[in-house]
Amino acid sequence: MLRVDRLTKEYPTPRGPLTVLSDVSFSLAPGDRAAVMGPSGSGKSSLLYVLGALEPPSSGTMTLDGQDPGALAPAALAAFRNTAIGFVFQDHCLLPQCTVLENVLIPTLVARSDGDDTARARLLIDQVGLGDRIDHRPGELSGGERQRVAIARALIRRPRLLLCDEPTGNLDRAAADIVASLLVDLHQRQQSILIVVTHSVQLASRFPIRFELTDRQLRRSEA
Ligand SMILES: Nc1ncnc2c1ncn2[C@@H]1O[C@H](COP(=O)(O)OP(=O)(O)O)[C@@H](O)[C@H]1O
Ligand SMILES: [Mg+2]
Repeated sequence: MLRVDRLTKEYPTPRGPLTVLSDVSFSLAPGDRAAVMGPSGSGKSSLLYVLGALEPPSSGTMTLDGQDPGALAPAALAAFRNTAIGFVFQDHCLLPQCTVLENVLIPTLVARSDGDDTARARLLIDQVGLGDRIDHRPGELSGGERQRVAIARALIRRPRLLLCDEPTGNLDRAAADIVASLLVDLHQRQQSILIVVTHSVQLASRFPIRFELTDRQLRRSEA
C-alpha cells in the first residue's frame, strides 16, 4: 500500500521558498495503476522524486507498506530505493558502453537478489520484445527500444512501486504505443503499484485511476 499524507514540497530559492506541492494526500493499493497529468512546471516530476525517495518532502509523509523512507538511515534508504522502487525517466539513462543485458542487470550489482538475476534479466528482455537485441549497446537501438530496456531495468528488482516520468515523451506515436502497451501488460502481471506521468491523453486513458496536478494540488479526475 502506498500512502501519501499531507505532502508538501518546497524548493529554496533566492526569493524564498517555492512551494510546488501543497497538502497532497492519496493512497494506492497493490495492482493499482495511476496516470498523473498536469501542465509543464506543475510539479509532476517533483512528486515522483518524493515518491521515489530521491527527494525528501518538506512536510508530510509517504509510506510504502508502512515503511517511511524519510525515517531510514542512509544505507537503509539506498537499499529501499534499490529494491522497493523502479524508475523510468523520459530520457532512458542507459549506460552507453554496456549491452542491453548489462544495463538491465545494473540494479543487481549493488546487492544481489534472491534467485538468478541473469535469468530474470533475459526473461524481462524477452518480455519487452528485445530478445534478439540483447548484445546491442544503446547507440545501436531505436528510441523506443531504449525505453523498453529502461523498463526492463526498472523491473529487475521486482519493485513494489514503479514510477515513470513521461516515459513516452521523446517517442513517435508508434513507439509510444508499444512502450505504453508494455507498461500496462507488465504491470498487469504483478501486484505492484504503477504511477505514470504523461502528457498523452491516449496513454492516460489506459489507466483506471487518473490524477490532475494543478495549483500545487493533486486531484483525482473521473475515469
Ligand atoms: N531543484 C529545484 N530547485 C528549485 N526549483 C525547482 C527545482 N526543481 C524544480 N523546480 C521548480 O519546481 C516547479 C515544478 O517542477 P517539476 O516538478 O519539474 O514540474 P513538471 O515535472 O510538472 O514539469 C518548476 O517551476 C520548477 O522550476
Ligand atoms: Mg517533469
